[in-house]
Amino acid sequence: MISKSRWKLLAMLALVLVVMVWYSISREDRYIEFFYFPIPEKKEPCFQGEAERKASMIFGNHTRDHPIFLQLKDYFWVKTPSTYELPYGTKGSEDLLLRVLAITSYSIPESIQSLKCRRCVVVGNGHRLRNSSLGDAINKYDVVIRLNNAPVAGYEGDVGSKTTMRLFYPESAHFDPKVENNPDTLLVLVAFKAMDFHWIETILSDKKRVQKGFWKHPPLIWDVNPKQVRILNPFFMEIAANKLLSLPMHQLRRVKQKPTTGLLAITMALHLCDLVHIAGFGYPNAFDKKQTIHYYEQITLKSMAGSGHNVSQEALAIKRMLEMGALKNLTYF
Ligand SMILES: *[C@@H]1O[C@H](CO)[C@@H](O)[C@H](O)[C@H]1NC(C)=O
Ligand SMILES: *[C@@H]1O[C@H](CO)[C@@H](O)[C@H](O)[C@H]1NC(C)=O
Ligand SMILES: *[C@@H]1O[C@H](CO)[C@@H](O)[C@H](O)[C@H]1NC(C)=O
Ligand SMILES: *[C@@H]1O[C@H](CO)[C@@H](O)[C@H](O)[C@H]1NC(C)=O
Repeated sequence: MISKSRWKLLAMLALVLVVMVWYSISREDRYIEFFYFPIPEKKEPCFQGEAERKASMIFGNHTRDHPIFLQLKDYFWVKTPSTYELPYGTKGSEDLLLRVLAITSYSIPESIQSLKCRRCVVVGNGHRLRNSSLGDAINKYDVVIRLNNAPVAGYEGDVGSKTTMRLFYPESAHFDPKVENNPDTLLVLVAFKAMDFHWIETILSDKKRVQKGFWKHPPLIWDVNPKQVRILNPFFMEIAANKLLSLPMHQLRRVKQKPTTGLLAITMALHLCDLVHIAGFGYPNAFDKKQTIHYYEQITLKSMAGSGHNVSQEALAIKRMLEMGALKNLTYF
């Protein structure tokens, strides 16, 4: 026979358990771990230093010594001399740049800095993302890098909703940055010309806007926190052009070709991450004149004419990186 007081004790224990379970469910997921054994989330195996090793085979050693974002101290105290003008260097744009760096930031967020192994995905804007259902898979990476004005709203199932960094230039900036980014997204400016520094300065310091000197109207009002803005080190443009596309650096003025933002983002990722996957890269075949090139808009390859990009040469460079295992593709490439 179980005595009355034992029953009371058991009832009390049961009540405490119920309250604890209820409390844990109503609060945060991690408390549930006291009661259940959660199945560990299946993530890609990540090997520290893997991307660095592969990158050194492509770009040479010590390219990792270059900071990802430009820092004020490199222009204020020490005048870092640059061999090239924009977009491959900062020669001649130092004064403008100095004013921009004084109001923006250069740090890599602690949430990325503290990771033992950085899993990154570069999300291209290609049509192959359409109906890909890759959204959940993309959101699982530590760092999600997006390009230009590629939208997220309305495409979450295929492209995900997380954006750790977005590379853009004034003409490719989304007019409504708050809708297509997260509050903590780093907005990484890729400068092609001195006017691009001038644009970001006038926007962030609310100075008189200049509308001339752009090949397409950039936003004149752009609601972002200056502390989220970074300036990409033009060094990555230099090595993307030179090492991936074999453009001759000594006669750049004659060569009109430039890497795309996508190729630049891959180059940056190989210097920031330990694992780099790509999704939504690649263009339709040249004879496929009707196929749209982006997942979100109805433009075809024709619109690339005169852009200064050689997409077939870039495809060869990406194929090479896939073959040597520096990258992995999540969509057909
Ligand atoms: C880079 O360094 C590694 C290890 O120190 C060495 O094996 C390799 O040959 C170097 N690569 C180049 C391109 O210098
Ligand atoms: C995507 O899926 C929708 C609905 O199933 C379909 O109508 C559309 O044709 C598909 N688009 C592509 C590019 O496959
Ligand atoms: C683009 O690159 C391909 C492959 O490297 C080359 O054959 C072609 O001539 C280039 N096209 C232009 C317009 O430079
Ligand atoms: C990656 O691209 C290759 C073709 O180059 C293709 O065979 C493979 O299926 C692609 N991987 C994925 C996950 O789509």
